Amino acid sequence: MSILIINIKELLQVRDSNILKVSGKDMNVLPTLKNAYVLIEDDTIVDYGSMDDIINLDADKVIDAEGKMVLPAWCDSHTHIVYAGNREQEFVDRINGLSYEQIANRGGGILNSAATLQSTSETDLYEQSIKRVKEVMKLGTGALEIKSGYGLTMEAELKMLRVIKRIKQKFPIKVKATFLGAHALPSLYKNNKEAYLDLVVNEMIPRVAEEKLAKYIDVFCEKGYFSLEDTERILTAGKLHGLIPKIHVNQFNAFGGVALGVKYNALSVDHLEELNDDDVTALQNSETMPVALPSCSYFLSIPYTPARKLIDAGLPLALATDYNPGSTPSGNMNFVVSTACIKMKMTPEEAINAATINGAYAMGISNLYGSITRGKKANLIITKAVPSYNYLPYAFGDNHIETVIINGEMI
Ligand code: NIG
Ligand code: FE
Repeated sequence: MSILIINIKELLQVRDSNILKVSGKDMNVLPTLKNAYVLIEDDTIVDYGSMDDIINLDADKVIDAEGKMVLPAWCDSHTHIVYAGNREQEFVDRINGLSYEQIANRGGGILNSAATLQSTSETDLYEQSIKRVKEVMKLGTGALEIKSGYGLTMEAELKMLRVIKRIKQKFPIKVKATFLGAHALPSLYKNNKEAYLDLVVNEMIPRVAEEKLAKYIDVFCEKGYFSLEDTERILTAGKLHGLIPKIHVNQFNAFGGVALGVKYNALSVDHLEELNDDDVTALQNSETMPVALPSCSYFLSIPYTPARKLIDAGLPLALATDYNPGSTPSGNMNFVVSTACIKMKMTPEEAINAATINGAYAMGISNLYGSITRGKKANLIITKAVPSYNYLPYAFGDNHIETVIINGEMI
């Protein structure tokens, strides 16, 4: 099956050579082609160019994109989209004055979601999760990282990971799985954290690796959750079993988690709402991608990741949703891109780079996703008619997407 998109007002993120990420000043460069076409064969982008040079107008399907933008589908490198139930009550509790920390301390938060997930059947968990997956595909997301971490028992963590595997098999969206057994300390282990770490390290990690249920290993490295020492223990065990680190750090406190992630060659370090100069130095001369989650900052009213500080230091930055029931009940990458421009002072070019090629890098797939490049997967967004690409983040909250193509399939 071939699809030819013609008369594209502007084709965004066109990369002739297959770069894997963009950093620093280069983030402000978004290569585009005006009055362009793209040709897709099956699941692959095979050609693109200027309408002036188009030779063959033959395809199974021709789409006229006059007045419209075409860009790579979003690459959302950090989600917890597989979860059960919701946490609307905690949302109201926070409005009424309780903090995220206070709610967690009284047994709410992650433990609340874990209790719900543990008592939800695998089928039901799958059904609840795919509703969200279908929604985010319609919103232009073509690749998704999904974490476990709301199970917190061997059985429930495996249940989550099997649901992730099923999503990977059933949907055209690209899925990468991350094991996050160390997301919170289950109440059963309240007075014995070492015993829970033993369970994660000696039983869960080997089983997850053996069953090939995850590619990445994550830890919530944060005061009141898992310390630097705990994180080190888990990353060591994960790496021993071939799992690559991708960790939650610096959401509420900066105490060396970034440097630790870099030391363990983390593919990404995510959150970074609190960021000091040592963190920036650690990231320089590393291959680790910093990832910002502006919807989480918005929803919890916590600081935004200082994007300018990172980019102006020559570093790359990726943007992701963090879609989860507690801190970010939204998987809308369009909102993330707008919020990054509005609140983090990223330019539209930087934000689009961060949400496409750099997001793909943060899930280890930028060789095949995240740009319009010959040979890459056919994951594309066709917008409605808009005046320019600046209009996409500018007119925030509106849906500018007309068509989404994932793996060569029209969604
Ligand atoms: O990335 N910070 C840790 N984990 C999630 C939120 C977990 C929750 O509140 O359910 C996050 O924000
Ligand atoms: Fe998260």
